[in-house]
Amino acid sequence: MSDLPAIAGGEAAKKNPYGHENRYDEAELTQVREALEQQTLFYAYGKKVRQMEETFAAMNGVAYAVACTSGTASIHSALMAAGISPGDEVITSPITDMGTVIPILFQGAVPVFADLHPHSYTMLPESVEACVTDKTKAVLAVHLWGNACDLNALRSLCEKRGLMLIEDCAQAFGCTYEGKPIGAIGQMGCFSLNEFKHIACGDGGMIITDDEELGDMLRRATDKGYNRQPGKTVRNPVFLAGNYRMTELQGAVAVAQLGKLESIVSRRRRWCRALCEKLRDVKGISLPRPTPGCDPSWWFFMIRVIPEALGADADTFAAALAKEGISAGAHYIGQCVYEYPLFVQHSPFKRGTHAFGGRPYGKGLCPNAEAILDTCIILPVNEAYTETDLEEVAYGIRRAAEWFASKVSSR
Ligand SMILES: Cc1ncc(COP(=O)(O)O)c(C=O)c1O
Repeated sequence: MSDLPAIAGGEAAKKNPYGHENRYDEAELTQVREALEQQTLFYAYGKKVRQMEETFAAMNGVAYAVACTSGTASIHSALMAAGISPGDEVITSPITDMGTVIPILFQGAVPVFADLHPHSYTMLPESVEACVTDKTKAVLAVHLWGNACDLNALRSLCEKRGLMLIEDCAQAFGCTYEGKPIGAIGQMGCFSLNEFKHIACGDGGMIITDDEELGDMLRRATDKGYNRQPGKTVRNPVFLAGNYRMTELQGAVAVAQLGKLESIVSRRRRWCRALCEKLRDVKGISLPRPTPGCDPSWWFFMIRVIPEALGADADTFAAALAKEGISAGAHYIGQCVYEYPLFVQHSPFKRGTHAFGGRPYGKGLCPNAEAILDTCIILPVNEAYTETDLEEVAYGIRRAAEWFASKVSSR
């Protein structure tokens, strides 16, 4: 390969298409066929959703797992089960999907944004603590990119301040913290099975808990206030709930996907650890740093450029990587969640006022998170990526970074 990066006229580093494998195969087809043959697709009458729930609970070492329609629905159900009510405050991450925040607003509660660690990209416990007021009821910890938050610190903070710890594990299936599965460390853990996650069923979600009362509340939260489990009172809703029921079709696909999770996560781990090793000494970029005690499950691989050392900003470097044939995108979600007009203008609903009343949102709230988004580049990760992908991606990144950095040192 030429020593010049593609951006300077060299050959692209990536010469072979990325490894790919089908997400769905005979395993899902068999499960879906069995679901249809049941002649019911209703979760309370069929076997697939129940099997998914029982297997998932056992895998996570908890007593209860409740399936639902999406990751957003899983978080909404957890907030309902936690009794989050209008005017309550919930502390969460400014870099996340809207699915983390929508449920807070639908409960009439107020999202409060804690700043992030500059390299693990997860919520800083000291920033979370500084956000706590007498209205705070819960911390919604987002395990971004498949890396756990500092759960020991967050758990002791929540215990000390009497707060519920709810884990948003949408990006973190298979991630462990001090050897334990994430999601089972707070009172509730919420997962997404949307099309882009480690495992998928079109759209779907799971919530886990070890607490019997929360388990019952989660059943009701996902099914209009009803609990249809044997021996439970069926129809006496005591709080406002959604219809977030997973159907047997999603349940069937989810059962098959769950069987693939371990292989998916272990292959992602192997590939990403090797990439870290290969890029360790590249100047001008910083690599993602797993939270101490965490073994991430690598939903994506987010690096940051250090413009002074690299001599390029995130857009320029991402464009150089694209020329190398490397999939890369700058700035992830572009701006912090609290910069969206919905927050800045306090306009979640067309009319009326929302509980967040006078709380100001907008640029400047979380400096670390804003700096992360300014300088970050996301490299997608897939379990099917090969050794060749690894060599080509690592070589392309190193060669481009060294070329930019050589211009800085010769200035
Ligand atoms: C961190 C996080 N939380 C919540 C969600 C919402 O999940 P869903 O799209 O299944 O509603 C997502 C989805 O991308 C996510 O990444």
